[in-house]
Amino acid sequence: EALSGIVAPLLSWYDRSARILPWREEPAPYRVWISEIMLQQTRVEAVKPYFERFVSALPDVCDLAQVTDDQLMKLWEGLGYYSRARNLKKAAGVLMEHYGGALPASFDALLTLPGIGSYTAGAVASIAYGLPVPAVDGNVLRVVSRLLASEEDILKPIVKKTVERSLTAVLPKDRPGDFNQALMELGATVCLPNGVALCERCPVQGCCKAHREGRVMELPVKAKK
Ligand code: ADE
Repeated sequence: EALSGIVAPLLSWYDRSARILPWREEPAPYRVWISEIMLQQTRVEAVKPYFERFVSALPDVCDLAQVTDDQLMKLWEGLGYYSRARNLKKAAGVLMEHYGGALPASFDALLTLPGIGSYTAGAVASIAYGLPVPAVDGNVLRVVSRLLASEEDILKPIVKKTVERSLTAVLPKDRPGDFNQALMELGATVCLPNGVALCERCPVQGCCKAHREGRVMELPVKAKK
């Protein structure tokens, strides 16, 4: 398997250098869900204060299901993409009605909730519940494209599917959430887009085909049309 060599060095790097983040310190399913929704279009540093305020005001699914639209919008104001907040409340209603107010410990059940796609379902399932499923966002797609020196257009849905399958094959069963977060963290802090990949700091440089071939800056391919 082409990616199997990354697991040990990536986890060891994550143990040494992962950022201390509020939802990592206490990865309850509700907190992981809220944080991953906020992190979809907003950077970690910007999310932190919003996250703390949100979970203080609405500590659980029941509170979220009952929040007024006015208070919800005030808590979200400044984060943008307000449909994310509306979907959170809608999903909380479904959780109250059908799941006893808890997030289901199942990738497929999570996928049925408003605002939850394969990335968020994978993040919650692996980080909060330790289930062996991948969580592939844009950062992870870029990292894997470079590791494999893949010329495929990462904007094609089939490419994400293929990356999910490749990662599932090597995902460590004892630490799936840490493995997924390590890949995200690598993409967010080292394997950067726009010609600024910091390869000298990369724990998996030795496994990277793009680095070996001097093609890091050309990848990933994002054909626009
Ligand atoms: N971006 C999205 N999810 C993240 C996480 N759990 N840790 C760091 N960056 C992220």
